[in-house]
Amino acid sequence: MRKSFPALVIAAAFAVLPLAQAAEHEEAAGQCRALDVAHWKAGTEIGNSASLQRGARNFMGYCAGCHSLKYARYSRIAKDLGIPDEQFEKSLLPAGASKNDYVIAPLDAIDGNAWFGKAPPDLSLIARSRGTDYLYQFLKSFYADPATASGVNNLSLPGTAMPHVLSALQGVPEAVRCTLTENAGGEGGAVKGDSVVQKLEVPVAGQLSAAEYDEFVRDTVNFLDYVGEPAKLHRTSIGIWVILFLLVFTGFAYLLKQEYWKDVK
Ligand code: HEC
Repeated sequence: MRKSFPALVIAAAFAVLPLAQAAEHEEAAGQCRALDVAHWKAGTEIGNSASLQRGARNFMGYCAGCHSLKYARYSRIAKDLGIPDEQFEKSLLPAGASKNDYVIAPLDAIDGNAWFGKAPPDLSLIARSRGTDYLYQFLKSFYADPATASGVNNLSLPGTAMPHVLSALQGVPEAVRCTLTENAGGEGGAVKGDSVVQKLEVPVAGQLSAAEYDEFVRDTVNFLDYVGEPAKLHRTSIGIWVILFLLVFTGFAYLLKQEYWKDVK
């Protein structure tokens, strides 16, 4: 059977289309673009108590040596997160601390200034002031930089004094750079010819896979979100009852209205 000429042209066009698209894709991939860390989303869930418990454990294990939570008491955290007393005292409460103490780091401001050039800030309200997405971005964007005192730098907080305290878990990412071929635009946008970080690659993985590290960071940020506003936990659980009540109440109000108006014509 012989195909007509137009049919052949259409068939040929469809055969070539994917190739053309692939070429376009390749070109985009080859283009130099700065890694857009500011759009990473934390994706935390304040209602996920398993995540909050893991976050508390992460915080006490990896952050509490330097950072305080001066508005949070150990006992309140244990109660809010439903951590049984025995487990709490065994795995979360630092030696020498009492349940009713506030979470205060052993490192005081003077040491912090001397050791890091900057005192580690109290993190009680950090999730409120910076937002959860930022915290997630900050903990995920450390990279090796021999020019700094700590040997690392950070894409969210350039020149940060905080060392990459999670490097045993994540490994230390290397920044892969490229040179911009056109102006990036936007606020404080880099210009043509600037060297920008295109991606972060972990040459030697730490104890966690990339996905497990994301989870670790997400749980930790979730915990900081709870610490910033403990009432959020109750508010979300109360919210469901309030809505249920309103629904039921609306039903009764409707029935009552029917009753009152049934004789009115
Ligand atoms: C060895 C001490 C140390 C440990 C441990 C540590 N930090 Fe820090 N952190 C610092 C210092 C120092 C700064 C101040 C950095 C700056 O402003 O440049 C800081 C700053 C921060 C900030 C503020 C960033 C900003 O934008 O101002 C956050 C958030 C933070 N740390 C989170 C954490 C979390 C979460 C952990 C645990 C996983 C942790 N830190 C563990 C020393 C530490």
